[in-house]
Amino acid sequence: MSNLIILGAQWGDEGKGKLVDILADRFDYIVRYQGGNNAGHTIWIGERKFVLRLVPSGILHPGKTAVIGNGLVVDPIGLFEEVESLNAAGIDAEKQLRISNRAQVLFPSHRLVEKISEMAPGRTPIGTTLKGIGPCYEDKIGRRGIRMADLLDRSYFRETVKALIADHQTRARAFGIDDAIDADDIADRYAEAAERMRPMICDTSALLNQAMRDGKNLLFEGAQGTMLDIDHGTYPFVTSSSSSAGGACTGTGVPPTKITAVIGISKTYTTRVGGGPFPTEALDAAGDEIRNRGHEFGSVTGRPRRCGWFDTPVLRYSAAINGFETMVVTKLDVLDDLDEIPVCVAYSIDGKVTLDMPATVRELAKAEPIYETLPGWKSSTVGISDWDQLPAAAKRYVEFLEAKTGVEAGCVSTGPERTQTIVRAGSKFAKITG
Ligand code: GDP
Ligand code: IMO
Ligand code: MG
Repeated sequence: MSNLIILGAQWGDEGKGKLVDILADRFDYIVRYQGGNNAGHTIWIGERKFVLRLVPSGILHPGKTAVIGNGLVVDPIGLFEEVESLNAAGIDAEKQLRISNRAQVLFPSHRLVEKISEMAPGRTPIGTTLKGIGPCYEDKIGRRGIRMADLLDRSYFRETVKALIADHQTRARAFGIDDAIDADDIADRYAEAAERMRPMICDTSALLNQAMRDGKNLLFEGAQGTMLDIDHGTYPFVTSSSSSAGGACTGTGVPPTKITAVIGISKTYTTRVGGGPFPTEALDAAGDEIRNRGHEFGSVTGRPRRCGWFDTPVLRYSAAINGFETMVVTKLDVLDDLDEIPVCVAYSIDGKVTLDMPATVRELAKAEPIYETLPGWKSSTVGISDWDQLPAAAKRYVEFLEAKTGVEAGCVSTGPERTQTIVRAGSKFAKITG
């Protein structure tokens, strides 16, 4: 039996969707444990592109159960938009989906509240996805949120939802934000969505624990990335959930003793969307080249992603927090044309060389990357699926990342499609996933 966590080792968009889709065949349940429709996980199957937000990436495999765990914040309207687009592609998503009765419900008025922190004068915007994710988690922690089980309880829901929306409106108005929101209309639309979701909503913790007793395998799909984790990320420029490995347990009700492995996903360079320090950001032509070649534009918001070089301190920190000993390095092909490739091997902060991750963004903003520069390979790696076929300089680049991070690169991705993937023979990755 194997219960595996796949998660982002950097600031998100590392290629988690592609990997989860590749591995989903070997598992029975594909489980999201945090976040909401701020995530955008892209999967290419031939010419067809799918971008999954709330729905786990395993949905594209018929017969697999896709679980939205208790750790998520769920916008039912957004969920059904996603379900409809899957239906249009011939996937009966509702049949495969299960939603935790303890997941939080996200309302349009959460997006109103988000305007306070993101747009009100005097606030420092985080550069969020504006999906209402942070305010919904605020209500959860503030113990006033509405959960799926509450939504199904018709009279209780009617009583509480109006008070919650009124609270959101009062707070927004205090900041001069007075968007028209019709609480009755929202209550009606959500009550309707609740009836459609009713067959999918259940105690997913009980479901997953029973599945494990029956010998089934679980694949946990992280959203965002470790550096966006609410505790371990570059606070406050983070998301509002636990995107690191610990979140897989709190966000599903599966005990830590049942997790058998963790695999981190990292690009062969680094990207970040939104605000916050990014020590290896390339603000020159090289950054633009990576953005254009890697199509580095947000899959949810379309925003250009900030691009830069591989950051060893980030990966070492991420490996330590999540406990992964093998990683997937993605988008090697994006670096194909570069003459040379800098890799940050340590930071210098106030003249002190360190591999440690500072606790504050003020300190991290002072980090000057110390680079070692490797030669490029100047030839195409697109679609290569055999390690031995890689140009020597590309192999040396990947081996350099392994040596600096102390983490095996057991899998290398050379394109967005399923087949454009190298699994290294004899690697920990091959053992875990084999
Ligand atoms: P996720 O949020 O971690 O699932 O990643 P995203 O889907 O937001 O962003 C990753 C993007 O890179 C997607 O457009 C993928 O199709 C694409 N992608 C994944 N792996 C590779 C790769 O090895 N090479 C190239 N060129 N694109 C890749
Ligand atoms: P996937 O799962 C990249 C970023 C936002 C912002 C910060 C907070 O596709 O990797 P939020 O809306 O969550 O409150 O925004 O987090 N962010 C992501 N960046 N990939 C994601 O998801 C992200 N989800 C949120 O840009 O900086
Ligand atoms: Mg993404």
